[in-house]
Amino acid sequence: MIEVDPKILLKPENEDYDSTGYDTSTASLASSIQEYIFENGRRYHAYYGTDKYLQPTDETEQDRLDLHHEMQRLVWEDKLHQSPLSEPHRILDIGTGTGIWAIDMADTYPMAEVIGTDLSPIQPTWVPANCRFEVDDAMADWTYKSDFFDFIHSRNISSGVSNWEHLVSEICTIPGGYVELCEADMSMHCDDGTMKADNPLKVCADNVRASLVKMERICPDLEMLENLLKKAGFEDIKTTTAKEPFGPWAKDHRMKKIGAMQLLHCESVFESYGMAAFTRVLGMDFAEAKAICDAAKLAAKNKNYHIYGL
Ligand SMILES: C[S@@+](CC[C@H](N)C(=O)[O-])C[C@H]1O[C@@H](n2cnc3c(N)ncnc32)[C@H](O)[C@@H]1O
Repeated sequence: MIEVDPKILLKPENEDYDSTGYDTSTASLASSIQEYIFENGRRYHAYYGTDKYLQPTDETEQDRLDLHHEMQRLVWEDKLHQSPLSEPHRILDIGTGTGIWAIDMADTYPMAEVIGTDLSPIQPTWVPANCRFEVDDAMADWTYKSDFFDFIHSRNISSGVSNWEHLVSEICTIPGGYVELCEADMSMHCDDGTMKADNPLKVCADNVRASLVKMERICPDLEMLENLLKKAGFEDIKTTTAKEPFGPWAKDHRMKKIGAMQLLHCESVFESYGMAAFTRVLGMDFAEAKAICDAAKLAAKNKNYHIYGL
């Protein structure tokens, strides 16, 4: 259980946190890949169809992904991976987004070749010499040689994965290689009863999950990923979770900092996951979808809710 900072509750009449927050593409790509649609004031990719991946690809989303990466570094105590890598030669990042993890890995392992793949060519061109990006649909049959990579990584790609079993069956490393699949469970958690059933953070998350269910997409839990990896022949599987508070309500300094970063992340994360999902999949109109996202954003700032994600 995350212990609540008693100072957070000092001014009960004021629900929000103080304004201080807390006291402590490459050029050779075919142009068709760069086809976009504009919806809800956001830019989404269109090349793979409108139901492949429902989150935007615009600069607001790219900033969110980069902020989220920094938050993940804090969550995992600055470790880019949990696997005991020694001298990796070839590393793959599936669904690399802005490529920020791949770039950090390339800097950390200068002798390794790091490849990031994604549906969208939104990665920067100024990257370390040992890092490159490819446009690729991870759901297609893979064309990489079966013994090519010694580390394969993915993070938060589940909203674009229509068939986890297929994806995991395509993942293959050299003997002795490692695979790391990191997914948020897209649910809200609370240990002290401060999240009621109608809490806007929960309502928003529940709707995101409902849209994924309707699209027959699954937010994989640890057990499911573990079983799929076992079935694909991987051994020595380890699982781990980390809590990410919404807001700087935790007493522990690092948790408080994660919660503060989470508040910044909340400025765009609900719209990123929610707007297209609620309108295109759940059939809401723009106003209804936006109201759910806005209410969640406001609730994240309420210091009386001690809610966290996993
Ligand atoms: C939420 S973002 C996460 C990006 C990055 N992994 C990170 O953690 O910063 C998910 C990314 O996965 C990509 N993606 C989704 N489905 C995909 C698929 N089927 N094949 C390749 N990339 C995919 C999206 O385009 C998006 O860039």
